[in-house]
Amino acid sequence: MKPVTILAIESSCDETSASVCVDGKILSNYIANQAIHQKYGGVVPELASRAHMQHIVPVVDLALRDAGCEMRDTGYGMGDIDAIAFTQAPGLIGSLLVGAQFAKSLSLALDKPLIAVHHMQAHVLANLIADDKPPFPFLCLTVSGGHTQIVLARSALDLEVIGQTIDDAAGEAFDKTAKLLGLPYPGGPLIDQYAKKGDAHKFKFTEPQIAGLDFSFSGLKTSVLYFLQKQQPGFIEENLNDLCASIQYTIVNILLKKLKKAVEQTGVKEVCIAGGVSANSGLRNGLKQMGELNGWKTFIPAFEYCTDNAAMIAITAYHKYLAGQFAKLDISPTARAEW
Ligand code: KG4
Ligand code: ZN
Repeated sequence: MKPVTILAIESSCDETSASVCVDGKILSNYIANQAIHQKYGGVVPELASRAHMQHIVPVVDLALRDAGCEMRDTGYGMGDIDAIAFTQAPGLIGSLLVGAQFAKSLSLALDKPLIAVHHMQAHVLANLIADDKPPFPFLCLTVSGGHTQIVLARSALDLEVIGQTIDDAAGEAFDKTAKLLGLPYPGGPLIDQYAKKGDAHKFKFTEPQIAGLDFSFSGLKTSVLYFLQKQQPGFIEENLNDLCASIQYTIVNILLKKLKKAVEQTGVKEVCIAGGVSANSGLRNGLKQMGELNGWKTFIPAFEYCTDNAAMIAITAYHKYLAGQFAKLDISPTARAEW
């Protein structure tokens, strides 16, 4: 059988990315970041859409070149691409529209099928990129700037959210507390960096008491704010490493406690993490330790597949291709999407 080659595009937030995957193996994964948002302390939707418009053609071109693929008929065959995939939801609508329109235009021009992918499902399936893949069923803690979910994956296309945040996402908890410490956006990676030199038990911040497998992070931000308001000028500068380590410890603890509960409830001991926050070294180490302690088999995607990337869209699209799940050309992206 001819190998299945998929070109995938991701543009849900502030990263423009394109990837080529052949039979589930990633051949290229190009990501263009948008530094412009840093000075505004968060992603500015209008600027993100404009930057996607500038980046999308070169990024797709580079991804195809890296993979050694031809998009159009070279005279010797029909071109290498069998389907075009794109992130359909959730995300910033202006950003999603750029990727969606580009993918739809390519699909029409090349007469190749279109595959619509859910960004959060793709974060979970990023775990299927590595050679050492989790067997089904597995649990996945997906932690990003906009979402915090525990997902039970029964198969590649049978995913169920069994717990999620009722307010802020874990990434927001990192970014908002980082802002209180005077750190630039996105503060998550900076907290991670300073935490490495700090004492995680120096300061105690309250953990939420939420029933079941759901999360809450808005209280942590308030607790850090009130704590800082009581301190003398210069306190943050003098204690930055310990503050970052203590905040990171609290967030990671909240996440891992719920994950442990999910393992106990489902009996599933293959445990993955995914999403931008899974790049956090405290979470990565904490998961490994917890796995060793409790007899879980743990899986963490390579760093480049944790934050937003098109490789995870490509791997998800590959499974949808095999299942014959194609989209029509009149499909529109949506900012919010339930599973
Ligand atoms: O998945 P992602 O790239 O984009 C969304 O879909 O949201 O996640 C971005 C989030 C941001 O909140 C960022 O601060 C956080 O992931 N993040 C981290 C780290 N790297 C990225 N948070 C903590 N530690 C990190 N090393
Ligand atoms: Zn994401």
